[in-house]
Amino acid sequence: MKKTGWLQASLALCLAACVGGDAGTGGAPEETPGAPAGSVTLAATPPMGFNTWNRFACDVSEELVRGIADAMVASGMRDAGYEYVVIDDCWQVERGTDDLIVPDPERFPSGMKALADYVHDRGLKFGVYTDAGPQTCQGRPGSYGFEEIDAVTYAEWGVDYVKVDWCHADSLNAPERYARFREAFDASGRDMVLSICEWGRNLPWEWAAESGQLWRTTADISDDWESVKWILEANNRHHAAAGPGHWNDPDMLEVGNGGMALEEYRAHFSLWAMMAAPLMAGNDLREMSDEIRAILTNAEVIAVDQDPLGVQGKVVLDRGYGFQVWAKPLADGAVAVALLNQREAEMEGSFSWHEIGLDPGPATVRDLWRHEDSGVHVDDGTIASRFRRPVPGHGIVMLRVTPIVEGEG
Ligand code: GLA
Repeated sequence: MKKTGWLQASLALCLAACVGGDAGTGGAPEETPGAPAGSVTLAATPPMGFNTWNRFACDVSEELVRGIADAMVASGMRDAGYEYVVIDDCWQVERGTDDLIVPDPERFPSGMKALADYVHDRGLKFGVYTDAGPQTCQGRPGSYGFEEIDAVTYAEWGVDYVKVDWCHADSLNAPERYARFREAFDASGRDMVLSICEWGRNLPWEWAAESGQLWRTTADISDDWESVKWILEANNRHHAAAGPGHWNDPDMLEVGNGGMALEEYRAHFSLWAMMAAPLMAGNDLREMSDEIRAILTNAEVIAVDQDPLGVQGKVVLDRGYGFQVWAKPLADGAVAVALLNQREAEMEGSFSWHEIGLDPGPATVRDLWRHEDSGVHVDDGTIASRFRRPVPGHGIVMLRVTPIVEGEG
């Protein structure tokens, strides 16, 4: 079966970008084909992990971080691909007379190096947060003018991931400030993912891939369906900017924080995977329900997010009344498809192979939430042969459609 337009271009991209890719490993550095020996692509697949902000805000401590690292292992999240444990704002209290950043001595009495070691000993990676301006969003000391010394400090602690925020920085030049972090990280000799967080204010999809591995495209997420809806719309516009090592970041996950129904969390998680978004859990992993754990560790959905082709899926059909079809081409020639129902009542959704970038013909369909093969469906190009499925209100149906190539089936 011949592939059409968008899909064909994506598969051609794969030849250059997804060699050596490994779905589900959460973005571990990989050798870059054709690059000098030893060089790596940081975040070859979208980073996966946990960040303290959405659930804990400023209530961070070494006890919390250790508990989360333990829970990440015990819950199966590490094995599902989650890797980075990131402390967001409020771990730092002042800049010392020696210019070194000082972690809160009461909340982190053992020091950051010991905490990084604890996280590393569990097969995980360690991340911190700072700000490109003189202060963080919560008024803690930022890195402005101290980028090099902070990079050296982070490297000494064993930091693998740094989120750099943009509060108190509006008068600064974003491409320049973030490039300075990248240079400082490189000079430190340690591989550190740079997570750019300027909320899309300076059009990061145009320049951020030069310095960072991911960049926020929107203002902060909140734990409600309306927030998920507007983020989807905003992040979808920039799909062409994403690829291995450089990802649009529609913000961290709210799955499990209590403000949405399970069906809504399933849709939130599925669409982040469709958008090849970083999957940073933001809930309390130490006490999540089995249902929430099942969402966060759905291996078939994670494989879509982590697919080595690294294409950001996009809306391919918008019916205008709250029903959308999203499609994401995958490295093996299959296409991940999400049917999204933004209305409250269940409705029937349908799509054709043409709409998801495939030619008419037979294809197998697998349901990634039911974990069920739906057999072979033949789209012969007629309206009657469109693939149809009921989609729950504020919910999703997520599928993997694999064309049966002539001679194979
Ligand atoms: C900003 C960021 C959030 C979080 C907070 C911390 O709002 O966008 O993700 O880091 O700051 O203060």
